Amino acid sequence: MATNTRKSVALVTGGGSGIGRATAVRFAELGYSCVVADIDEQSAKETLGMLQTPGIAVQVDVTMATSVEAMVTAAVQRFGRIDCAFNGAGTEGSYAKIADHPEEEFDRVMGVNAKGVWLCLKYEIAQMLQQEPVVSDPARWADKPDVCRFRGVRGSIVNASSQAGLVGHPYNSPYCASKWAVLGITETAAVEYAKDGIRVNAVCPVVTATPMLDRIKAKLPPHLRGQDYTKFFPVGRIAAPEEIAEAVCWLCSDACPFTTGEHLKIAGGM
Ligand SMILES: NC(=O)c1ccc[n+]([C@@H]2O[C@H](COP(=O)([O-])OP(=O)(O)OC[C@H]3O[C@@H](n4cnc5c(N)ncnc54)[C@H](O)[C@@H]3O)[C@@H](O)[C@H]2O)c1
Repeated sequence: MATNTRKSVALVTGGGSGIGRATAVRFAELGYSCVVADIDEQSAKETLGMLQTPGIAVQVDVTMATSVEAMVTAAVQRFGRIDCAFNGAGTEGSYAKIADHPEEEFDRVMGVNAKGVWLCLKYEIAQMLQQEPVVSDPARWADKPDVCRFRGVRGSIVNASSQAGLVGHPYNSPYCASKWAVLGITETAAVEYAKDGIRVNAVCPVVTATPMLDRIKAKLPPHLRGQDYTKFFPVGRIAAPEEIAEAVCWLCSDACPFTTGEHLKIAGGM
């Protein structure tokens, strides 16, 4: 088992925009080398340009196994291992009640948000299983040899769910279904790989100021447009992507070795 004296490696899908971009930036601020992956390669390169640590930009379509496998291969070829991953790539889908929703939209949204997370886990976990467990800060845990952190960690993964993965989300049933699916996949992966030293958690943000939110506002049915979102949340505002990024990096970090299979609602007191 190795001691963690080197810099860790983080992979972020959806890293070209919004929460994914903020997460890559935060990982880099914390000293991680970064793999910034997105279907929009140019946006991934723009994010890479914001980082002060070593990194690569990778074009990936998370709905395709060959593409996801190639992303993981590129990460390992460059950095040798993947310590942390944030599976943030996602799509908001369209807005209509179920009776009016096009069938193909259900498949598309589930493909990106649910199958995409599943495929990323599949290849990230396969890689992490080959990695030697790393012990970080062993002196701190020297008197607690049974603490899982002391046994070493192969990797830690956080998936993007949503508040829409916890409650119903009118007019957005495919998105809602996909985000509930992410929680089921997260909890299952966490149980399957807990003894291997791989942690898997999820975040469930509410309304966050990203390009996705701008698109959602334009797609809402007319009677829901122009709402003041700040009224919904006790803190009196919506989230900034950097606030979600901070939670992702904490869940990925060595700070919470006993936390796996969890989802963290980030909802401004809602
Ligand atoms: N913004 C919010 O209010 C909010 C709230 C809760 C959850 N989320 C979730 O957080 C995640 C990030 O959302 P965001 O607001 O930053 O959105 P965003 O649109 O700003 O960023 C999403 C990124 O995913 C990429 N992407 C889309 N399809 C892809 C694919 N097939 N393969 C690879 N990359 C792909 C896009 O190119 C984009 O860069 C999403 O999963 C979203 O569902 C967002």
